[in-house]
Amino acid sequence: MARRPLVMGNWKLNGSKAFTRELIAGLKSELKGVEDCDVAIAPPVMYLAEAESALAGSAIVLGAQNVDVNVQGAFTGDISTAMLKDFGAKYIIIGHSERRTYHKESDEFIAKKFAALKEAGLVPVLCIGESEAENEAGKTEEVCARQIDAVINALGVEAFNGAVIAYEPIWAIGTGKSATPAQAQAVHAFIRAHIAAKSQAVADQVIIQYGGSVNDANAAELFTQPDIDGALVGGASLKAPAFAAIVKAAAQAKA
Ligand code: 13P
Repeated sequence: MARRPLVMGNWKLNGSKAFTRELIAGLKSELKGVEDCDVAIAPPVMYLAEAESALAGSAIVLGAQNVDVNVQGAFTGDISTAMLKDFGAKYIIIGHSERRTYHKESDEFIAKKFAALKEAGLVPVLCIGESEAENEAGKTEEVCARQIDAVINALGVEAFNGAVIAYEPIWAIGTGKSATPAQAQAVHAFIRAHIAAKSQAVADQVIIQYGGSVNDANAAELFTQPDIDGALVGGASLKAPAFAAIVKAAAQAKA
């Protein structure tokens, strides 16, 4: 089954109002006429309003880097699904390793965020992946299965209909040391098979992005792999030409 690729930029804690306007203007011009790939950006929530207006007339979709499980009330500092929807955000990253590590987010808590997003009609982009130590101990599949099963156990496998998984090995994030296409493909195939064991139909349609030091030089080869359906891009998403080159590589490889 042909899956439409999705390339998404995770800006992390970077940017300003001016940066947001300039980067989006650059992306709009670089990506004119590119149609065979879904494109999303997740700026810091502070800049969603700026981004929403800068994106007017563009096919680039807005996303966000996090969401809270609560919808309204006395939850100081939190951002709800309804607030993200208010700005037209659609693809919402949850379970990023930086939040799992720095904010001690558990698999069960992340499954609650997944549920909140589904309830609101938003698209969860569930980040999973092993640390360097887990990788060296041969635990990659075990870790990925556990992180996915937290969602399946809470919500059922059907929750992955219309959802996105981003396989981001922690040792590859921001290190310049991407997984090789073959390494990534092996894990992506495992993830899809793990879901297929519960539902082949759900597995066939779920988008599995690769993330971790994707750049304009290594993207095309990663996208030749059959189970790599796009990328979640950090550093290289902060430069319009590099991010656009990654999008074009996905559009070309998956057309
Ligand atoms: P880098 O592309 O900077 O390695 O970051 C990947 C990432 O964490 C995207 O969510």
